[in-house]
Amino acid sequence: MRYSLHLTTNCNLRCVYCYENKASGQPPKNFVITQAEIDQRMADILKRDDCSELELLGGEVFLYPDIVQYVFEKYAKQFNFIVTTNGTIRSEAIDKMLAKYQPLVGISLDDPQTVEWQRAGIDFERVLANAEYWRTITRVLICAVLTPQNICRIKETFDFYVLEHGFKTIHFGCVEEWMNAYYWQVYEQEVERLIRSTPPDILRRVTLSPWKYYAVNKKEFIYENGVEKLERCNPAKMDMSPYRLSRYAGYCLYCRRIGVEPIPLIPEGVEVVNAA
Ligand SMILES: C[S@@+](CC[C@H](N)C(=O)[O-])C[C@H]1O[C@@H](n2cnc3c(N)ncnc32)[C@H](O)[C@@H]1O
Ligand code: SF4
Repeated sequence: MRYSLHLTTNCNLRCVYCYENKASGQPPKNFVITQAEIDQRMADILKRDDCSELELLGGEVFLYPDIVQYVFEKYAKQFNFIVTTNGTIRSEAIDKMLAKYQPLVGISLDDPQTVEWQRAGIDFERVLANAEYWRTITRVLICAVLTPQNICRIKETFDFYVLEHGFKTIHFGCVEEWMNAYYWQVYEQEVERLIRSTPPDILRRVTLSPWKYYAVNKKEFIYENGVEKLERCNPAKMDMSPYRLSRYAGYCLYCRRIGVEPIPLIPEGVEVVNAA
């Protein structure tokens, strides 16, 4: 089971869609986790004995490389780590840490045409270069966010990062609160355009998420204290949201394109907790 530990709310970018910036206009939350809090949350996770992957989330975690180093050093034997970063901060210490602990590094980079507007403050070429360097020392995943601004460019975004720049794993998230019935329809059409136009041998070779594998889970808070949060993905429960239905349509198409049988929308034993 995957758990997500939030290390900070602070960040050096101001992405237009960011859920960490929802309180814009209000004073910054300015939360940075302490070592004592990390150890408490880790004790909670270890007690549960079901964590296989631990995701470190922010804000921007590499504003505080010493905190990331502390978590890796102390808990590397117990978990596989995933770190999600905006990719803007690189140093010798960060490079060494990534090479030593080999986490999966999720680097947030959207459609190249809209990324500089969406991820305000980014130096796109520099982050792309950092991602290209980090993939030489550990596993890297490109995390692209879809919005109504770039939803017609899913294929072009895939082509740019995977076909032109050689990244092997890409994930397309979506700002659900900006979508409506019309945009979900466009989403499904655009996913279809991508899958139909990409040869099956390329689809088999790369990881195109969230359509390659159908992951059933519901995010739940294990601990929440205003800004300090520990979440887990519960694979026995799921939300039946418009996003899940549209993702499932893409997953079925993907399966057919590569010649495998999709699993059912609601696998046996999975509880739907908020049917639409
Ligand atoms: C909140 S960020 C934290 C990590 C880091 N600062 C970064 O940007 O990668 C985690 C991921 O969520 C994405 N994200 C932020 N706001 C979102 C939203 N409202 N809907 C969907 N994804 C969002 C970001 O692009 C990023 O890939
Ligand atoms: S870099 Fe990450 S945390 Fe910072 S504003 Fe963008 S999405 Fe939010």
